[in-house]
Amino acid sequence: MHEEFPTDEPAVVTCGLPYANGDLHVGHLRTYVSGDALSRALERVGQDVAFVCGSDMHGTPIAVNAAEEGVDPETYAFEYHEQYEETFPKFNVEFDNYGHTHDETNTELTREFVRSWIDGDHVVEKEIEVAWDAEADQPLPDRFVEGTCPYCGEYARGDECDEGCQRHLEPGEIEDPVSTITGNPAEYRTRPHKFLRLADFQEYLAGFIDRLEGTENAKNQPREWIEGELQDLCITRDMDWGIDYPGGEASETPREGGEAAESEEDLVLYVWVDAPIEYVSSTKQYSERVGADQFDWEAVWKNRGTDEEPDGGEIIHIIGHDIIQHHTVFWPAMLRGAGYNEPRAVMACGFVNLDGDAFSTSRNRAVWADDYVASGLHPDLYRYHIVTGSEFVADVDFSWDGLAERVNSELVGTLGNFCYRSLLFAERNYGGTPDAAVSDEVREEIEAAMDDFRAAINDYRVRGLGQVPVELARFGNEYIQRHEPWKLTDDDPEAAAQVIRDCVQISKALAVLMEPVLPGKAEELWDQIGEAGSVHDASLEEALAAPPAEFDEPEELFDKLEDETVAELNEQLQTRIEAAGGDEESESDEDEADDGEDVDVAPIADERVSFEQFKQLDLRVAEVLEAEPIEGADDLARLVVDVGVETRQIVAGIKQLHDLEELPGTRIVVVANLEKSELFGVESDGMLLAAGEEADLLTTVGDADPGTKVQ
Ligand code: 2FM
Ligand code: ZN
Repeated sequence: MHEEFPTDEPAVVTCGLPYANGDLHVGHLRTYVSGDALSRALERVGQDVAFVCGSDMHGTPIAVNAAEEGVDPETYAFEYHEQYEETFPKFNVEFDNYGHTHDETNTELTREFVRSWIDGDHVVEKEIEVAWDAEADQPLPDRFVEGTCPYCGEYARGDECDEGCQRHLEPGEIEDPVSTITGNPAEYRTRPHKFLRLADFQEYLAGFIDRLEGTENAKNQPREWIEGELQDLCITRDMDWGIDYPGGEASETPREGGEAAESEEDLVLYVWVDAPIEYVSSTKQYSERVGADQFDWEAVWKNRGTDEEPDGGEIIHIIGHDIIQHHTVFWPAMLRGAGYNEPRAVMACGFVNLDGDAFSTSRNRAVWADDYVASGLHPDLYRYHIVTGSEFVADVDFSWDGLAERVNSELVGTLGNFCYRSLLFAERNYGGTPDAAVSDEVREEIEAAMDDFRAAINDYRVRGLGQVPVELARFGNEYIQRHEPWKLTDDDPEAAAQVIRDCVQISKALAVLMEPVLPGKAEELWDQIGEAGSVHDASLEEALAAPPAEFDEPEELFDKLEDETVAELNEQLQTRIEAAGGDEESESDEDEADDGEDVDVAPIADERVSFEQFKQLDLRVAEVLEAEPIEGADDLARLVVDVGVETRQIVAGIKQLHDLEELPGTRIVVVANLEKSELFGVESDGMLLAAGEEADLLTTVGDADPGTKVQ
C-alpha cells in the first residue's frame, strides 16, 4: 500500500515516447497534456516531481519511413525530434527534460541494463525462424512484415496485433507473412537472437501487479498475461538502426541448442528495450542539469534498499492503452533485472477520435498541432477540451464544434464569467479586495474543492483536475446570484463587502486550482488579482491566503468562440480532406502509419486447398442482433448474432470502420465452427467475414434466413 501524495520521496512522471516519425496531431497530444497537468498538480500539493520524456528514435517504423523518403534514419528521426521539442511548449507542455533515445546517455544506460541482465543470467540465445525477403535479400523485423495474428486471426503487423487481440508478437510468430518492402510473401530463415527470460520474473510480476496503482485497465489487463506462460522476449533485431547489442559477451551468453554464437555485431536492440530506458536517461539528464541536490535521479530509480523493503521514488507512467503490456510486464521485468525500482502507477488512456471517426493521417483527416497553433486559439482551450472530454481511460472526441461548445459554456459562461463579474465589481467599488473576512460557507467550499483536487491526484483522475475549478466557479456564480451584492452596496455595505471579499477569494482559489489544466489562463488570472510572481509556484494552500488589497480593472479571461470561426475551421479541415482524396471511411492512424503507398491487390495464394478442406468450414448466414463497442479496445466491437440454431457472441475488429448502431438487422456471413477465442477479455464464438482493411462486411443478395449454409 502506497502513501498518499505528497510523499517524502521524489516523483517522476513520464509520457509514452512519441516515435520520431511524423507530424503530431491533436490526438497525439492527449497523453502529453495529461502528464503535464498531473505533474503540475503534484507540484501544487508539494510533491517533488520531475516531468520527463523524449523522442523514440529507433525501431522499424522509422527505418521504413526513412527508407521510403530516401534519407538515413538518423536524419529523418532528428528532424521530427526537433519538431516535437518545439511543438510541446506551444501547448504549454513543459517537460523538465526532453531527450531522445539515440543520445549518449540513453545508449550507455541501455547497454548497462542489458549487461546487468546478462550478468544476472536472464539472457539466452536461441536460433529462431525470422521472416525474410528473398528478393530484397534481407530480414524482415517487426513492421517490415505483415500477416495473420496466430492468436486471433486478425490482420496484424509483425510485432503487434494492432487490429485484433492487441498482443505483442514475437519475431517469427506472424502467419502468412508478407514483406512490406516488396509485397512478396516472406520466407523464413534461421537466425540467432537474444532473449530476456521473462519467466524468471513471473513470481515478481504477480506481486507487482497487485501493488500497481493507476487506471483500472492498466492494473487488470496484464493479469491474464502474467498469470499465463511468459514467453521469452526477443531483445535483438537484424537491423542497422538502433543501439548495438553490447558485444564482447557472446561466449558468456548461454545458448540453447549447441553451436557457437554467430557475430553479434549485426544485432541491434529491439526498440522496446531502449525506449523505456529513456525514462531513466531523461531523468538522469535532468539531474545532471539542475544538480543532484535539487533532483536526484538515482533516489527515484535505483533501488538502494532491499527486495523486501525497496527504497525509491514514485514513478508514474502515462501511456496510450495500446502499450499496457510493454509497461506492466516487459518494463517492470527489465527494471527488476537491472536492480531498478518499479513503477508505482501506470495510467493508460483511450483513443482520440476526430469528430466521431478515427484520425487518418494519410487522408489528411487530422487537426495537426500546427493547425491548432495557426488557428490562434489559446492552447489552454484544447487542453481543457481533451482532459475533461471523457474519463482518462475512455475514448475522447475532438472537434471544433465540441471545442466551441465546451469553451463557450464552461470556460466563457461559467469560469470566465464568474471571475470577470467578481473582479470588476471589486475593482470598481473597492479598488481591489474589500476589507472583510472570508465567510465560513465560502472557506468550506474552497476547502472541499482542494480536497477534490487532492483526491483527483491520488485517484489518478486527470479529468477531475479540470472539473474542480469549473465546479467551484459554478458555485461562485450561484453564490453571487444568491446574494446580489449590487443591491446591497447602499443599504448594507458591510454585507456587500463580505460577498465580494468571498468572490475575490474564490477567484484566487480558481487560479490555483486551474493551473494544472489551464496554466496560461491561470497566470493571467493571477496577474489580474494583483498577485506577484507566478501561480505555478503557488502551493495549494494559497487558495485560502488573502488576495492583494489592490488590483486593476480585469479583462475577460476567455473569449467566446464565434460560430463563424468554427465554421471556418471546419471548412479548412473539410477542404483539406477532400484535397487528399475524400472523406470516405476513415482508418486509424496506426493502421496506415506504415502502409506508405496504396496496398496492391495481394497475389492469390500458391497453395491450393482441396474441396474436402474447404467443406470443413461451416459458413452460415447470420443476422446481427446487437453491436456495441468494447470499451478500451481501439477497434473491437462485440456482436450478438442469430445463426439460426442459436445466438452467438462474436468479437470483430470493426469498431472504427462501421456505424455499430446501424448494424442490427444486417445479414452477414460467419465462420460458425471456428475455435472459440478471447479478444480483449471477451469471448468470441465465431468470426464474421469481411473484405479488406475497411472490413467491408459480406452479406447476402437475397433473403437467405439466418442459419443457411454458405457453400
Ligand atoms: O508506441 C509508441 O508510440 C512508442 N514509441 C512508445 C514508447 S514508450 C516507452 F516505453 F518508451
Ligand atoms: Zn491477435
